[in-house]
Amino acid sequence: MSIEKESGSDLFFNVHKSIGLVIATLVVIRFSWRLSHPPVHLPPVVPRWQARLAGGVQASMYVLMVLLPVSGYLGASYSKAGVSFFGWAIPRWTVEVHDRADQLFELHETLLWTLVVLVAIHVLGAAKHLMWDRDGLFHRMWFN
Ligand code: HEM
Repeated sequence: MSIEKESGSDLFFNVHKSIGLVIATLVVIRFSWRLSHPPVHLPPVVPRWQARLAGGVQASMYVLMVLLPVSGYLGASYSKAGVSFFGWAIPRWTVEVHDRADQLFELHETLLWTLVVLVAIHVLGAAKHLMWDRDGLFHRMWFN
């Protein structure tokens, strides 16, 4: 799932950075909305360990949704290419530090795969409620 660095790939990197920044903005909006709209408590039929697991996975997904674009933005800021938003160059606030950019991109990738694992657990949990438990909990996650 990586974009190889070769001639012409700059466009893909720039589109990636721009879409990543849009996602980061949407995450901030979603997070603010969530803080002002706490979910209804889970019904007592849900075992405590499952409620804790679900809460832990959801909180971790929020943290990663913030850290993922932040690490990409910081890595790009320390890289030679810098950051641009749909062709509009964002002013540099740091000099190029190649090793730091590499470390941040490694972190970016690790955070991505951690988020992928959490999303898989989240989807499996939702599927269990929909198909196995049939307790109506899935519909809390879905549009009503
Ligand atoms: C929020 C959503 C984002 C997702 C899901 C995401 C995902 C990814 C993925 C899958 C890769 C390839 C990793 C690999 O090498 O296997 C990558 C690389 C990269 N991302 Fe992001 N990214 C996001 C946000 C950003 C942002 C906001 C920026 C910068 C403004 C950014 C800059 C980069 C750069 C420059 C690379 C290439 C790193 C390298 O040279 O190895 N990303 N990202």
